[in-house]
Amino acid sequence: MMDVKILVVLSFLKFPAVYCKDRQPHIVFILADDLGYYDIGYHGSRIQTPVLDKLANQGIKLENYYVQPICTPTRSQLMSGRYQIHTGMQHKVIFPSQPLCLPTDEVTIADKLKEAGYATHMVGKWHLGHYREDCLPTKRGFDTFFGFYNCAVDYYTYEKDSFHHFANGTSVRLTGRDLWRNDEEFVAPKYTGQHRTKVFANEAQKVIRKHDSDKPLFLYLSFGAVHVPLEAPNKYEEMYEDVEDYDRRLVLTLATMMDEAVGNVTSTLRETGLWDNTIVIFSSDNGGATSRGGSNWPLRGGKKAYYEGGIKVAGFISSPLLPPNLHGSTNRELIHVSDWFPTLVHLASGNLDGTKPLDGYNQWDTIRHQTPSPRKEILINIDPMIECEKCNNDSHWQSTKFDVHLNAGLIVGSWKLLTGHQDHAYWSSPSEVPDLQSNIASHSLGMMVSLYNIKSDPTEQTDLAERMPGIVHRMLEKLADYNNGAVPPYYPENEIEADPSRHGGAWGPWAYL
Ligand SMILES: *[C@@H]1O[C@H](CO)[C@@H](O)[C@H](O)[C@H]1NC(C)=O
Ligand SMILES: *[C@@H]1O[C@H](CO)[C@@H](O)[C@H](O)[C@H]1NC(C)=O
Repeated sequence: MMDVKILVVLSFLKFPAVYCKDRQPHIVFILADDLGYYDIGYHGSRIQTPVLDKLANQGIKLENYYVQPICTPTRSQLMSGRYQIHTGMQHKVIFPSQPLCLPTDEVTIADKLKEAGYATHMVGKWHLGHYREDCLPTKRGFDTFFGFYNCAVDYYTYEKDSFHHFANGTSVRLTGRDLWRNDEEFVAPKYTGQHRTKVFANEAQKVIRKHDSDKPLFLYLSFGAVHVPLEAPNKYEEMYEDVEDYDRRLVLTLATMMDEAVGNVTSTLRETGLWDNTIVIFSSDNGGATSRGGSNWPLRGGKKAYYEGGIKVAGFISSPLLPPNLHGSTNRELIHVSDWFPTLVHLASGNLDGTKPLDGYNQWDTIRHQTPSPRKEILINIDPMIECEKCNNDSHWQSTKFDVHLNAGLIVGSWKLLTGHQDHAYWSSPSEVPDLQSNIASHSLGMMVSLYNIKSDPTEQTDLAERMPGIVHRMLEKLADYNNGAVPPYYPENEIEADPSRHGGAWGPWAYL
């Protein structure tokens, strides 16, 4: 009798804690790679992404959603919630032999979710540095990791080539493979011959099946598709037989394969009973590479561009936890990839203690309650290492506080200001719809300062800088303020010590503390 009483009391005491935990949703963050704005079914393309379309239609499409124009920057902001001017990662991406990683004093989203009680797992592409062991995913908040470190590896062999240039002007091709389990076991040989999209889906399914449902789950599934090299099984390619352009056909094929992979992962979430308490977020990491089959139609530019085609991408949030009246809705509030950090920590009932000042905003009310976004601007970037080749030194904007030779981009409300050298500025229509070509307007290039109203002119046809000097000046002042708070970019020289032939044929850490 006595024993029973004690048990009752104990379980009663335990109840509040258990109750709290049960409310923490499972979070599955799916990051596509180089998937263009047009390269998802619900944006009107002929591409077949039925799973993603259905998930989006059962959730909320984010239609004023921005990321960074290239791989490492988007990932650095997703993981840290901070702009590149604050992490020193302004310039380009991390190269295979570069002794560089997301600074290890940055707290990651995985650190914070783990601290909030989550099991944290990562599958797929990391690309936040691998030269030292303390840069690797399992040292950055993830309990487990299965994937690769570099920007891309072959879809079947996990190989990555990289040229090393010596000071004497000669260069050598470094070749290695890159696929790891828990940053310890080099598993490329074991998986050679298996397409990585399928391998990653499988690994994600394993993580879900093994998950102890008493704990909340954070799964970061970073497919690394549809990035080059473009390789996919014929089974999917047959769907696009009529698409003549080889690269385009393969991009469509890889996207459809990834779509099926996402379907497999969500099926496993349903089978294991986790689904009812799961929030899925889907995002591309940057615009499609228009030179390699990607399409951001009708947006201007693509991967690497500060134009909309580089940074405005497909994104949505889908969950049975969202109220039915929001299913299939569209959210047009300004949301940026850096916002996921505080938003997901909020969803996890975590706290932001110990982080450096965040550039992201908690967007949960924006998404869930349709309130106005707390974000009014996005600093696209300021990269002092990009030279302004075509700059006209007579520009009358030079008298302002901000050096307009610097490559920079800023969005404030409806306005986007670009300065310095801006590349990848062309509109390119998807090759399977040649009729769209006729819509391409003429445009000017090589201006040192340009201003677009991205609300009334979302395809950035008309540069308004000369007509709206007041707005240009105010935005240049804002850029000057951001620049005053910037740390210098850190972009070290490649090191030959990274050569995989010195490390058993693997790309992995080569430097030690
Ligand atoms: C250039 O430097 C590398 C590295 O020191 C060396 O291996 C190579 O032989 C040199 N090549 C020539 C042509 O001097
Ligand atoms: C999805 O699962 C099915 C059934 O197990 C499998 O045949 C297929 O290859 C999987 N597809 C991908 C892309 O993982």
